[in-house]
Amino acid sequence: MRRPGRGPRPADDHGRLNVDGGRPVEVAMDVDLDVADLHPAVDDPALNSMNFLNEVAQRYPAAVSLAAGRPYEEFFDVADLHRHLETFRAHLVDDLGYGPEQVHRTLFQYGRTKGIIHDLVARNLAVDERITVDPESIVVTVGCQEAMLLVLRALRAGPRDVLLAVAPTYVGLTGAARLVDLPVRPVAGGPTGIDLADLREQVRRARAEGLRPRACYVMPDFANPSGTSIDLADRRRLLDLAAEEDLLLIEDNPYGLFHADGAQRVPTLKALDTGRRVVYLGSFAKTVLPGARVGYLVADQRVRDSDGTVGPLADQLAKIKSMVTVNTSAIAQAVVGGALLAHGGSLVAANVRERAAYARNLRHLVAGLERRFPAPSPVSWNVPAGGFFAVLTVPFPVDDALLRRSAQEYGVLWTPMAHFYDDTAPVAALRLSISAVTCEQIDVGLDRLAALIADELARAAAPAALA
Ligand SMILES: Cc1ncc(COP(=O)(O)O)c(C=O)c1O
Repeated sequence: MRRPGRGPRPADDHGRLNVDGGRPVEVAMDVDLDVADLHPAVDDPALNSMNFLNEVAQRYPAAVSLAAGRPYEEFFDVADLHRHLETFRAHLVDDLGYGPEQVHRTLFQYGRTKGIIHDLVARNLAVDERITVDPESIVVTVGCQEAMLLVLRALRAGPRDVLLAVAPTYVGLTGAARLVDLPVRPVAGGPTGIDLADLREQVRRARAEGLRPRACYVMPDFANPSGTSIDLADRRRLLDLAAEEDLLLIEDNPYGLFHADGAQRVPTLKALDTGRRVVYLGSFAKTVLPGARVGYLVADQRVRDSDGTVGPLADQLAKIKSMVTVNTSAIAQAVVGGALLAHGGSLVAANVRERAAYARNLRHLVAGLERRFPAPSPVSWNVPAGGFFAVLTVPFPVDDALLRRSAQEYGVLWTPMAHFYDDTAPVAALRLSISAVTCEQIDVGLDRLAALIADELARAAAPAALA
């Protein structure tokens, strides 16, 4: 049935336009469906965020990108894909004793819902993280993004359920929560990565309102977007608090291997978890390659099924996965499996060059900021102990319109921190990423950013000067 459309749509509150190749387009008057009749998530800012940022990046390809959280591309080599596939094939034959038929079936056919590299993932967790898990507690997923969706889908059992998440929060988490109608309530992050008093307060407040906080989402290592990390003492306190309040923790750890020079790696929550409080999410996007779209979850919580049998939460999540993606691509798993095998199960060993490059870039970024904004300055930033991101705080609101202007007039991209907060309050900060650039590009990007900031400060000061 055709319905009258709403005509041309202007930019929304976030400056987002209906776009086609970067140009605003008019919505046809003769439409078949109205977005208001679709699931509310599709018109939610959280689901528009990545599209908007990609659209700006595509529209200004010459701009230096301190926005992209992608891994460094120069280390990618097509020959590695072939090598990893062959390594995995040889593993099937030599280590698992598969005959040719089994090899073919494993690589070419539909496969086990929970994945075919679960043993290798378990070994990787033991080698790199000292996490000991039964491989049956692992589900290999289509990126970490699918892992989030499966966990949130399972936890959202009814309308009283809510998720707590350290703010600022990765937008992929907020978007996945929207898709399953699970409200997200912020917990203060602050400079220590999580405000534990606020977490307890939020849990109690939600319960007092008759709600059921199912879990708290945290990123203890070099968080996206804040760059902050939680220290060992607070990790232990967080686990104690979770036990006291009977709360699950969802630990997302895509950046944990990339500590900066001189920084010590801190055990993950999952490595410290003796009470099965932590559902652990992993991604091979930054440590192997994002093109494979392989991630995983560890869910060892024991669940009693309706028939009385007890098994890991992973088994329940696999049922959901069987209706979302059926199974993760065997070929993609084979490539990742081969990469794991090539380094004795260690991604720490596989990422020596990458870690050094990211550490160098982070050092370069911080030194560059110090040079361009010497104290006293109205501009400040944090110095993360690793990862891809740092946050720059400025004395004016940073919104999508400013990003567009930065891209168009100054030739530099970054990410407004407002994208990582689940409200519309103005945020005077932006995220800088060092992962997909060279030191030279960081220099150019910072010069351009410093020019933008100087102009914004001058503009803010202008009325007073004129008065
Ligand atoms: C915190 C966080 N979690 C999850 C993901 C998604 O990982 P994947 O590419 O494996 O889906 C990202 C990607 O940037 C991320 O930053």
